Amino acid sequence: MSQPHLDLHETASSEPRRGFMTHILAAGIGLLVGAVPACAGLAFFLDPLMRKKKGGSGDGFLKMPVSLDALEINGEPQLVKIIMDKVDAWNTYLKQPVGAVYLRRTDKDKVVAFNSRCPHLGCAVDYKPSEKHYFCPCHTSTFGVDGIKQNEIPPRDLDNLEVQIRNGGEVWLKFQNFRATTPEKIPVG
Ligand code: FES
Repeated sequence: MSQPHLDLHETASSEPRRGFMTHILAAGIGLLVGAVPACAGLAFFLDPLMRKKKGGSGDGFLKMPVSLDALEINGEPQLVKIIMDKVDAWNTYLKQPVGAVYLRRTDKDKVVAFNSRCPHLGCAVDYKPSEKHYFCPCHTSTFGVDGIKQNEIPPRDLDNLEVQIRNGGEVWLKFQNFRATTPEKIPVG
């Protein structure tokens, strides 16, 4: 009668291997269990940043309180205050004044917009109808009605902004502030 063959060598070596596999499995489960709260914590930490990206008006454009019809072709620029919800790292501040723009209609379906902040040190520029230019009172600089600087103090022209005409006459604007003092337009905020 044949006896069952017992391979003592195989049995002895499989014990430590099984123990090793158990340790690997335990370590894997431990990592998985630890990763869940870590991911939740990371999502919580990033939440305001993600909300900031998702927030605003979808494509970033704001509907202006003036329509195309209210702007005369090649007429005087109109000053519009920009009110937006501001989001910092953890809070949302509703309806905050963030700046102002000059809107000017230059053609049937075209409106140009300039940020009213002077690119020199950020003072607000005024439009002077009698001179047909923008005037910065802080260092007596002027800009043409096309936004081009007329003296050497400002480092660049007025900052133009993207405008779209939608639904046959609504004026939509992508508002942005830019860093003062630099020749290049560097977005801030
Ligand atoms: S801030 Fe406008 S010229 Fe200096």
